Amino acid sequence: MLYCLYYSPCGSTQEYAVKVAETLGPNPIYVDLTRSDGRLDFQREDIVIFAAPVYGGRLPVPLVEKLERMRGDQSHVITMVVYGNRAYDDALLELNSILVGDGFEVFASAAFVARHVFHPEVAADRPDKQDFQEAEAFANRAKYKYDEMDYSEPKVPGSKPYREFAGMPVAPIADPASCFKCGTCATNCPVGAISKEDPTQTDALKCIDCMRCVQNCPSQGRVLPQKVQEMLLAKLSPLAGVRKANEFFY
Ligand SMILES: Cc1cc2nc3c(=O)[nH]c(=O)nc-3n(C[C@H](O)[C@H](O)[C@H](O)COP(=O)(O)O)c2cc1C
Ligand code: SF4
Ligand code: SF4
Repeated sequence: MLYCLYYSPCGSTQEYAVKVAETLGPNPIYVDLTRSDGRLDFQREDIVIFAAPVYGGRLPVPLVEKLERMRGDQSHVITMVVYGNRAYDDALLELNSILVGDGFEVFASAAFVARHVFHPEVAADRPDKQDFQEAEAFANRAKYKYDEMDYSEPKVPGSKPYREFAGMPVAPIADPASCFKCGTCATNCPVGAISKEDPTQTDALKCIDCMRCVQNCPSQGRVLPQKVQEMLLAKLSPLAGVRKANEFFY
């Protein structure tokens, strides 16, 4: 069976993962890990795509916990990380190392660029047509390698100990005047940080700042605190207008 597992609060990782899965073969089984644990055990004959966004040069912590519960029986794996045009640092190495530890065999890996969820002008329109063409070419080359029964593990960038990333001690705040308590944010928060009874209350310690609730609030009533927004805009603005290349490893 062909599986495609992705963690994608704001959708870019999913877009790339779907393109690769559709190119690899018919009827992939999609598992959205963003809010569920998904399937845990895979068979030797399965091909599994794992796709993850990059947070602070690492994998999102809730995803790491889910990945560590997966089991592969030498099942063959394609890994992908998706990052916001800054850097992916140790994220791809972290993903591959966890999966090899789980009993999977990684035979192709990629790092793709997508819009940065913290800055509207950084990689704003990505993935675009060229990105999808490259994702398709990546899938075809991985398929060729698999058909040749070459399951050798690619060497990917990154080093141990991994880059430290403790997240940000803040969460988006909701404007009580515009919140009409539709519950969309609370239902879809990957870590259950938003109160279902009062969605204007968010647990900043649980929140991973994935920006899903900000992106999806129908009244556009959720934003990061002003000072944090300004800090992120200042830090990321030099990356606006820069086109970083996708990278592939076989
Ligand atoms: C908490 C957090 C940390 C991030 N850290 C990085 C980073 O270190 N490097 C980078 O290039 N992009 C970083 N990004 C941007 C995301 O990797 C990028 O926007 C990605 O497309 C999000 O995936 P998604 O749309 O599937 O949720 C970060 C985003 C978040 C929410
Ligand atoms: S999605 Fe927006 S409007 Fe709906 S409950 Fe959340 S903050 Fe309120
Ligand atoms: S509260 Fe935090 S973790 Fe939950 S959806 Fe919003 S940004 Fe993401």
